Amino acid sequence: MATAILIVSCQQQQTGQDSEIENKVEDLLSKMTLSEKIGQMNQLSSSGNADDFKEMLKKGMVGSFLNEVNPVTINKMQKVVMEESRLKIPLLFSRDVIHGYKTIFPIPLGQAASWNPDIIEKGARVAAQEASEAGIRWTFAPMIDITRDPRWGRIAESLGEDPVLTSVLGAAMVKGFQGKSLNDTNSLAACVKHFCGYGATEGGRDYNTTIIPEQTLREVYLPSFKASIDAGAATLMVSFNEINGVPSSGNDFLLRQVLRKEWNFDGMVVSDWGSVEEMINHGFCADRKEAAMKAINAGVEMEMVTSTYVEHVENLIKEGKIKESTIDEAVRNILRLKFRLGLFDKPYVAVNSKSSLYSDEHLASAKEAAIQSLVLLKNENNTLPIKSTVKSVAIIGPLADAPYDQMGTWTLDGEQEHTITPLVAIKEEFGKQVKVNYAKGLEYSRDLSTKGFTAAISAARQSDVILMFAGEESILSGEARCRADITFPGKQRELIAELKKTGKPLVLVIMAGRPLAITEESKIADAIVYAWHPGTMGGPAIADVLFGKVPPSGKLPVTFPQMTGQIPVYYSQKNSGRPAKEPLMLLNDIPVSAKQFTLGCSSYYLDAGYKPLYPFGYGLSYTTFVYSDLKLSKNQMKKEDQMEISCKITNTGNVEATEIVQLYIRDLVGSLTRPVKELKDFKRVAIKPGETVKITFTLNTNQLKFWNAKMEQVVEPGQFKVWIAPNSSEGLEGSFEVTE
Ligand code: NOJ
Repeated sequence: MATAILIVSCQQQQTGQDSEIENKVEDLLSKMTLSEKIGQMNQLSSSGNADDFKEMLKKGMVGSFLNEVNPVTINKMQKVVMEESRLKIPLLFSRDVIHGYKTIFPIPLGQAASWNPDIIEKGARVAAQEASEAGIRWTFAPMIDITRDPRWGRIAESLGEDPVLTSVLGAAMVKGFQGKSLNDTNSLAACVKHFCGYGATEGGRDYNTTIIPEQTLREVYLPSFKASIDAGAATLMVSFNEINGVPSSGNDFLLRQVLRKEWNFDGMVVSDWGSVEEMINHGFCADRKEAAMKAINAGVEMEMVTSTYVEHVENLIKEGKIKESTIDEAVRNILRLKFRLGLFDKPYVAVNSKSSLYSDEHLASAKEAAIQSLVLLKNENNTLPIKSTVKSVAIIGPLADAPYDQMGTWTLDGEQEHTITPLVAIKEEFGKQVKVNYAKGLEYSRDLSTKGFTAAISAARQSDVILMFAGEESILSGEARCRADITFPGKQRELIAELKKTGKPLVLVIMAGRPLAITEESKIADAIVYAWHPGTMGGPAIADVLFGKVPPSGKLPVTFPQMTGQIPVYYSQKNSGRPAKEPLMLLNDIPVSAKQFTLGCSSYYLDAGYKPLYPFGYGLSYTTFVYSDLKLSKNQMKKEDQMEISCKITNTGNVEATEIVQLYIRDLVGSLTRPVKELKDFKRVAIKPGETVKITFTLNTNQLKFWNAKMEQVVEPGQFKVWIAPNSSEGLEGSFEVTE
């Protein structure tokens, strides 16, 4: 993957300010009253009735709406400001268009399993085209929080645990939403969120406290934001959480020092829903007035749904607690965005024009994204793809035919009538090849009743292969949907165990918004396909992969723990002073009345060891790839230097497939300790059966930099390890040195 190239080409999209726009902004700003300025900083949620807001709109008291998707209502509201307000500043309509508008793509975590920025960009483009037809010009995506805790429901919305992968994919999403130019009526302004550290929420419980040292913040949580901003992201949303005692809505270090001073961001900053006022609950502000003051002074420019700015800014200025120049700066950023979006010239949405919703092209893109999101975790005895000798399949499970749930979290606008489920797709596409015996077994994922088991077991007995569709309903992941136990909910584990007893080959297809702890099931299933929530076209995508029309290629964007208590477990952990020493003595190996130090003293769990169930970057295909011949173009690099690292990869199987090749490094000794592995680059490569390809990565010393204790980004001389690898726990290993 040409990471550097992607970021450079995106940067060209929006470098420098357009002086014509800047002049217009200044001209308009100079005409605005304070109350009109405060109005621009006010974002409301629509009630669906334009008349409710008429008086406010005439007075210029609203800058933006969220949650209005009726183009007729949008135009009606816009008409009031364009014809009846003094300065005719168009409204900006926004929506959470996170993984599709009508045509729903896999949840972002699923899309991330493609490791394919092109497919992600395409998905965002489709979403932008569809949403802009309703009059939406601003989406609250991409969510680029680094997430290392699958208990946290919002992991579904993220692009996984790794800063480099999230940076590349997040930037691609920005590019897709914003298109060639923000000024095009089918472009959406992107909003990178949630700034910052939201994914570090303690215990994986939403909105919870985070404690993040500045070094970790800069190394883990900030880079994806920097990459998206370099890619031209027009706006940014602050997060709900506090970091080290400071809620993000009042965090001037993040918003003023990092975002504005260090990164030169000239876009606009919005609060999260009610997050300004919530600083009272955090215990950071005594009342709404103080909340408004702290948020504005920190640099939160638009307030989402609460009205502390409208109520208090005038007085705060009079009292000298906020400078009018601070308000001017905020409004400048809001107006600049509206000019960039071309809203002053084209404020209205064309109603009844030709629609692209659910077009064949959009559905095809959604299907391709779903195919590339599927991760084959296990395939004993080549159970998959289903062979031509298989005459019947049992389709079982609460997610085999769950059109709503398969769309996943954040589907405000997707309609289940358009979803094609695996049951429907398999019958339609392969119904002539195999007899389908369908029995749900459980009505929904949390179902506690076993009354469907008998029918399910009997369907399994009558079939050559069992396809069990297990997982989670969509409501179990996403915002405020955290789980303290991430095993299959309901009686699914029992059903899977019963199906196993039939002795038939058991294929598990798992649809879920998070990594589930599936250790036991991974032992008994013959094959496992992780399908996340795959969206509108999930069914046809899964059918094609199960029946071998296309091989799977996805790789995990996040580590799968063996059990909930093993969290946090992520590949780029530190080594500790006493890394786990093999062989491990586990719970049941310990002799009764063992002496205190029988087990040695190293870092692991007695009941889970130290390895995850599946590592970051892991995923199989219907072929095997053999890595060989690692070569480094040099074994020493200067501090500003680069080298080539290459290897050969041979497809030793019978089908052409795509391999996602990963480049990792380890900095062995640092002035601050370094992770045991860090992803630095990746490439997708299609390889024909029997073919050997040479893969070459260029590693630049810039990629070896880290933040030291003085908060300087440095590369320190010393020894490094490097791997070209199929995942984060295997690969060909080499080493090199960086010299002064
Ligand atoms: C709260 C969520 O945290 C955020 O991601 C979303 O964009 C807003 N609500 C608006 O719906």
